[in-house]
Amino acid sequence: MAEDLHVIRGTKQEQYQSLIPQIKGLTEGETDITANLANVVAALKEQFKWLWVGFYIVKNNELVVGPFQGPVACTRIKKGKGVCGTSWAQAKTIIVEDVEKFPGHIACSSLTRSEIVVPVFKDNEVVAVLDVDSEHLDHFNETDATYLEQIVKLLAFG
Ligand code: SME
Repeated sequence: MAEDLHVIRGTKQEQYQSLIPQIKGLTEGETDITANLANVVAALKEQFKWLWVGFYIVKNNELVVGPFQGPVACTRIKKGKGVCGTSWAQAKTIIVEDVEKFPGHIACSSLTRSEIVVPVFKDNEVVAVLDVDSEHLDHFNETDATYLEQIVKLLAFG
């Protein structure tokens, strides 16, 4: 049975360092990808209280919303569209300090001010993206990129 998440206060780095072993514990030995994606977004949401955190999964050459926590979201995003579709097309992490300055940003919630999107790879192909939205401007930096990239590597897409 899962234990309660141990949520800590501290620097962003300390929070990620506390969270990563717990995410390993939650996902290790579980092969169901939906279960693992759901627990990862729940753990991130509980620790950081971000506005929206979730996965979009590549299906039939589109991104389709997967497990997430936060307000209801756009269901499908095309390759190259918005921050998520751009991260997928470029196969790289994108940090948006101010969503109003990102051409083509898809506003699922009017509260979103900044965003980070991290691609998830399987065999060098992007199979999903992790999208995190904040109601604060300039909320994400390289620390988030580094740790979120580590976290998505713990997910074994089958
Ligand atoms: N803002 C994203 C769309 C997804 S929602 O914010 C949950 C984008 O521009 O790709």
